Amino acid sequence: MPPEHDIVEALKAGGFLPPDADPHLESLTGGVSSDVFRLDTAQGPVCVKQALAKLRVSADWRAPVERSHYEVEWLKTARPFAGDAVPRVLFEDEANNLFVMSFYDPATHSVWKSDLADGKVDAPFAGQVGRMLAAIHAGCAGSPEIAAKFQTTELFEDLRLAPFLRHAATAHPDLAERLVGLADRTAASRITLVHGDVSPKNILCGPSGPVLLDAECAWYGDPAFDLAFCSAHLLLKTVWKPAHAAAYLDAFYALQRGYLPGVAWESTAALDSRAAPLTAAILLARVDGKSPADYVRTPEDKGFVRDTARRMIREGSPAMAALAAVWKEALGTR
Ligand SMILES: Nc1ncnc2c1ncn2[C@@H]1O[C@H](COP(=O)(O)OP(=O)(O)O)[C@@H](O)[C@H]1O
Ligand SMILES: [Mg+2]
Repeated sequence: MPPEHDIVEALKAGGFLPPDADPHLESLTGGVSSDVFRLDTAQGPVCVKQALAKLRVSADWRAPVERSHYEVEWLKTARPFAGDAVPRVLFEDEANNLFVMSFYDPATHSVWKSDLADGKVDAPFAGQVGRMLAAIHAGCAGSPEIAAKFQTTELFEDLRLAPFLRHAATAHPDLAERLVGLADRTAASRITLVHGDVSPKNILCGPSGPVLLDAECAWYGDPAFDLAFCSAHLLLKTVWKPAHAAAYLDAFYALQRGYLPGVAWESTAALDSRAAPLTAAILLARVDGKSPADYVRTPEDKGFVRDTARRMIREGSPAMAALAAVWKEALGTR
């Protein structure tokens, strides 16, 4: 039986679709850990997402399907602080690890990663991403109720800290103490609601600003991780498409300028001082972790990212601006 059939049956059984509906489901490409469909209903198009038991990126990387429910919880919790920058959840079938959310038409919503790759680098848009993230982090900070809903440290460990930071520590024994220390400190943090996968491939560029998708790594922990994750992506793009390096750096700075003034729950300097070493560690993990960036391919590119990230970790990165300065200087001497 094709998954489409089972999904339609589940949506009928849950009362989301009338029993006699015969809707069309169209698979949307791009997902690595889920099946994502456009579903045309009598009320218009919606999006259906079902978590896969096995991620498509790596044969031995399994992620428990409960992550689907945490994605739903993240969407519901974050939306009041971000409005349409977060999809509205319309229905959930927890037993089948699937949910329905508002649909963003690809004709008007491009994937940010594609725009970046094409050299369409809009720094103010990166600023909007930063403001949106900070609004969610600020809105959810210090809430025992929200923290209680996201007891997902084990998931975050399996999906993020182990494959990125701890795996990189294994590959770099001389930096292992720092990397493991960073992973341990991050794992122990309970500051606010973290998205966990703020990557340009999970951000749509719409007419009224960014839309943040794919919250399967949701966790109540250190918001510095979200800023670091997205920042590392923007820095890596300078290696992918050197012609647009200056524009990617502008976007990196705009992201910081959008985000940092929104840090209302702690001092900006404290947040900044945790985000910088996390960014360096994530950069290293994108070449020597379990989820290497597919576009950093050549030995020269890998060597550049590895050497620069190692230098940042060795020297200690006190703040995002200092980290960017190291990256920029290293790019200049390539
Ligand atoms: N609500 C939505 N509206 C329109 N397209 C969506 C929506 N959610 C996901 N998509 C499309 O599906 C792709 C994969 O979705 P995502 O949630 O990132 O799944 P995965 O966990 O598999 O990466 C996105 O890049 C986007 O193109
Ligand atoms: Mg995704």
